[in-house]
Amino acid sequence: MALTQSGSTRDHWSSRSAFLLAAIGSAVGLGNLWRFPAEAGSNGGGAFVLFYILCVVLIGLPVLLAETLIGRHGQASAPESVRRVASASRASSHWSVLASMGVFAAFLILSFYCVVGGWVLYYVGVFAVDLVNSGVAGGAFAGQSADHIESLFPALIGSAGWTVGLDALFLGITLYFVARGVSGGIEVVANWMMPAFFVLLLAITVYGMFGGGFGQAIDYLFTFEPEKLTGPVMLAAVSQAFFSLSLGVAGMITYGSYVGRNVNLAGTSAMIAGADTLVGLLAGLCVFPIVFSAGLPEGAGPGLMFVTLPHAFQDMPFGSVVGLLFFIMVFFAALTSSVGLLEVPTAWLIDRFRIVRRFSAMIVAFGAMVLGALAALSFNALSGWHPLGFIPLFEGQGFFDVLDGLTAKLFMPLGAILTALFVGWVADRKLVDIENGIGGALHLTWLFLVRFVCPLALVGILVMGLFPDLFG
Ligand code: TRP
Repeated sequence: MALTQSGSTRDHWSSRSAFLLAAIGSAVGLGNLWRFPAEAGSNGGGAFVLFYILCVVLIGLPVLLAETLIGRHGQASAPESVRRVASASRASSHWSVLASMGVFAAFLILSFYCVVGGWVLYYVGVFAVDLVNSGVAGGAFAGQSADHIESLFPALIGSAGWTVGLDALFLGITLYFVARGVSGGIEVVANWMMPAFFVLLLAITVYGMFGGGFGQAIDYLFTFEPEKLTGPVMLAAVSQAFFSLSLGVAGMITYGSYVGRNVNLAGTSAMIAGADTLVGLLAGLCVFPIVFSAGLPEGAGPGLMFVTLPHAFQDMPFGSVVGLLFFIMVFFAALTSSVGLLEVPTAWLIDRFRIVRRFSAMIVAFGAMVLGALAALSFNALSGWHPLGFIPLFEGQGFFDVLDGLTAKLFMPLGAILTALFVGWVADRKLVDIENGIGGALHLTWLFLVRFVCPLALVGILVMGLFPDLFG
């Protein structure tokens, strides 16, 4: 049901650059800073990184443009936007299910994302306290043993009270901004935090260049060893590209729906994808030199940021300051993404049930708090609970991993396949041709990618993700 006339009373981004910043803010997050280095480190470096870049260009960017196109045309929440494009193309309104699924998936991601956001807050606190104790000039954690530093993380996630409490705090901060609206809240966070984020990222990367591990990090991230490009590595790279670009879960449809008609979507999408990829690579160039120069292992996975890095900050000059700045930077990036995640279901509630924004956001946040608490507890009180344990893919996994796995392996690829098919084959060619902002050969290339390359590649990924045994 259409509640507002296209674009009339709806809140919009106040300018193109506001949209650009908010969309980059949504894309750049824990996915880039925490997940990308961890995945690159666990998947052998260069082969993963180069395949990742290929996925961004050939699959990610076309789907990103397809999503913003749907949103901008629809000027409504994601499912309603798809319905409007379908109706303008005389196609079945059932296509909106691709976005309904996305709304649900965004809600699931939000639930576990805020748990990790809570961990980030914890480390901001740890480094703030440490700065007082250790002083500015020396490394972090003066006089403390490596064992002690490394035990911080297991102690944190082992505590039901800390993990749930910090999840609530992070979610509460997210809620505060989403409740204030698109131009009054979401835009404000992005406007302040994204520039600060970029300054911090550059500063820490430049600092890392002088610490000794930089050359090794470049070699590690950019040396292409074809034999390392196995099925699981490719799968990890493509899932990472989708997660990082906020695709497949209606995120960019929603942000696109606040864009005015005059914005060139193709150019903007390219800038979003470019900025997001650049930040992922810079995060790698920020994290790995620090890790290598401290002689630490690169393959720690999720623990890379929370265990390996704090340890590395101990031996660095100004380590306590750099550590604090690092985690503040991660916090900024995570918040601009969680705001995007909360906005997706919130926009849907506003549209669908005419609930005012503040309450819609509160309802979603409440739900995410319940699921998030279960996810947080899966590291401690509920560690023996394996909710989907009867399915081989989820065997032995706690609730946090189930949420992550379900969204990354099922919802995101499925949502993206349907988006590509819908825009490539179903939506009215005229509508798509006029609105995407590119013409000629570039337009045809995009259409080719959306029609053939994206669906085929994504079906392959979906099958590989769901039936890993088939591929040895
Ligand atoms: N891209 C975000 C990150 O890298 C996470 C994310 C995935 C997201 N899907 C989203 C954010 C949808 C906003 C909307 O951290």
